[in-house]
Amino acid sequence: MSDVPMTLRMRRPDDWHLHLRDGPMLDTVVPWSARHFRRAIVMPNLARPVCDARAAAAYRHRILDALARHRARTGIADTFEPLMTVYLTDDTDPRALVDAFRHGTVCAAKLYPAHATTNAAHGVRDVARIMPVLAAMADAGMPLLVHAEATAPSIDVFDREAVFIDQVLVPLVARLPGLKLVVEHITTREGVEFVVSAAATVAATLTPQHLLYNRNAMFQGGLRPHHYCLPVLKREDHRRALRRAATSGNPKFFLGTDSAPHTRQAKESACGCAGIFNAPSALSTYAQVFEEEGALDRLEAFCSLNGPAFYGLAPNAGHVTLVRDGERVPETIDTADGGVLTPFRAGETLDWRVLDDA
Ligand code: DOR
Ligand code: ZN
Repeated sequence: MSDVPMTLRMRRPDDWHLHLRDGPMLDTVVPWSARHFRRAIVMPNLARPVCDARAAAAYRHRILDALARHRARTGIADTFEPLMTVYLTDDTDPRALVDAFRHGTVCAAKLYPAHATTNAAHGVRDVARIMPVLAAMADAGMPLLVHAEATAPSIDVFDREAVFIDQVLVPLVARLPGLKLVVEHITTREGVEFVVSAAATVAATLTPQHLLYNRNAMFQGGLRPHHYCLPVLKREDHRRALRRAATSGNPKFFLGTDSAPHTRQAKESACGCAGIFNAPSALSTYAQVFEEEGALDRLEAFCSLNGPAFYGLAPNAGHVTLVRDGERVPETIDTADGGVLTPFRAGETLDWRVLDDA
């Protein structure tokens, strides 16, 4: 064995599914994403959701302002580009939505079934009722990003993705075959099978946590709130199906971290929030998973090529280098307003360290 650490240089990746929040939390978390990722699809589920072009443009400015403050404070430059999305409601106006897409103000719309997750109370109650919006999106080539979970209380939390695919997505793609659709953060074998067997217009993102852990992680020696996210971690056979999909080389699968910060107080609670803040450790974790699967030669496509191809964008010109010599994840990260975040894999030394190559 040589002493020289293994290195891997690849096009700079993008994050096709990211929660950045607002205010002091935004200031805290956005630099962690900008360190590794050049672009990110920014989720619109703020406390007051981003429901139209105006709100998306204003939010984009707040994100760029937060990065400018970080630059002024630290001298660390970045080229981060937030790609904005609109939150669909029962009342979304199809024409205004498609106009915002055509003008480039937003690049996709997000469908949260009402009450499916954090700040989803204003989401869509019945997909059938927004068919005119979805038809207009299909005509315009505007991607629909879906939180694919059925919400009826009678449906077991571990079955929600599979049921949503059967009840909503299968009929939807049959009715609107031209619709560009990303099934976000898939967690099940059924999710993989749906995406693989659908047309080239249907893709999926995969998170580091669903590739790394099965649902046992939530209960290991006690209740582990920092491993709780939605869709919830699934059983081992699903994790294996996700790993096979991610590393298969199929261009329908690409990186979307679903990094979703909540303060330690909000996570370690009698009713803890769903979401894992993985921005500091996501890229290193993906590299670990691809190495474990003997597929490091396919990591660049998953992280840096498949997503841009789906969205009709060029891959980034810049690069990152991953070095296999270990990187320690902080135990905690202080928020700009006195809170504390516990990042994904807090305190662990990860196999892969990410260098900025420009
Ligand atoms: O775990 C999650 N957290 N899943 C989501 O769908 C939303 C996210 C958040 O915004 O906290
Ligand atoms: Zn999300």
